[in-house]
Amino acid sequence: MSDKIRWGLLGLGAISSKFATGLSFLPDAEIYAVGSRSQEKAGEFGARYGATKAYGSYEALAADPDVDVVYIGTPHNYHMPNSLLCLNAGKHVLCEKPFAVNADEAKAMIDCARANDRFLMDAFWTRFFPGMVKLRQLLADKAIGDVMLVQADFGYRTGQVVPESRIYNPALAGGALLDVGSYCVQLASMVYGKQPSDISSQVAIGSTGVDELSVSVFKYSDYEMATLTTAIRLNTPHEARILGTGGRISIPNWWMPSELTVTVQGEEPETIRFDNVGNGFNYEAAAVGECIRAGKTESDIMPLDETLAIMQTLDRMRAQWGLRYPFER
Ligand SMILES: NC(=O)c1ccc[n+]([C@@H]2O[C@H](COP(=O)([O-])OP(=O)(O)OC[C@H]3O[C@@H](n4cnc5c(N)ncnc54)[C@H](OP(=O)(O)O)[C@@H]3O)[C@@H](O)[C@H]2O)c1
Repeated sequence: MSDKIRWGLLGLGAISSKFATGLSFLPDAEIYAVGSRSQEKAGEFGARYGATKAYGSYEALAADPDVDVVYIGTPHNYHMPNSLLCLNAGKHVLCEKPFAVNADEAKAMIDCARANDRFLMDAFWTRFFPGMVKLRQLLADKAIGDVMLVQADFGYRTGQVVPESRIYNPALAGGALLDVGSYCVQLASMVYGKQPSDISSQVAIGSTGVDELSVSVFKYSDYEMATLTTAIRLNTPHEARILGTGGRISIPNWWMPSELTVTVQGEEPETIRFDNVGNGFNYEAAAVGECIRAGKTESDIMPLDETLAIMQTLDRMRAQWGLRYPFER
């Protein structure tokens, strides 16, 4: 491996642009290659971000012997085939959230990474922000006692319903749950360190056949619960609150946190602010680089068994709603 981790970016849409910007903040990483279904697009994107190589197919990117790790930035339903392509070509992989469209696909990806002895991670960038590192520390220190309730929302209102877009198209695994609800499920999973024993959920399925609004109650034990709201037809406050026997922690814009407020029972609230650097994607990219340099095949912060468990929880929610994507039938 060279001094710098050599990244390949696969699928050059909106999120890959942001990830490329994030990488530019890391002195020990470079955008070595980019891969698109279009050579012209690859050339433009590569020139914009200073990539050494620009490929007009995903296969050519995966075959480049000098790429260390590939970032997958395609729509949800392509995460599995794109990840398998790269893992089988001997690349490490960071795959955008949702990791896959269901648990069966997630398991195939994890099995493939383990068979090839390659690093693989679910790109929940939220977990790598300094604010989330602090949150995990506060919870481990029992700063608010024992957690009894997690409340989190992640909902936005799209300008209009565009049936063919990846947000509304069931053939691209559209809907709020996989796009942003998955963030809420991973937060509850991180806080409790397990998946719910019971799920009670209500959903609005829209005209294109995907979930547009849902409210879910998760129960882990009698005194461990979560209420999670997600939407693509409603702007929600983007707040997370973690309530414990000895106080609570509130996090505005919790999926990319820059502050959190700790209220220990009987004391004044304390707001802790973080001077985030870069655009946030640099934190997860740096963590991936550290794992690869250390020869690790998975992250302790976003481990693969937890990724699979989260996907199983998402499957259970969809099963309650009777929501199956066309390619699952
Ligand atoms: N972590 C985050 O904060 C975050 C934020 C937004 C999105 N995401 C995730 O990133 C993934 C991509 O989202 P995005 O908003 O970047 O989507 P996007 O702008 O539509 O870009 C997706 C890219 O995937 C490639 N692609 C391959 N097959 C495609 C197909 N049949 N239809 C459309 N695109 C196809 C295209 O790249 P080429 O034309 O170059 O091949 C396209 O530009 C999603 O899974 C989403 O959940 C994560």
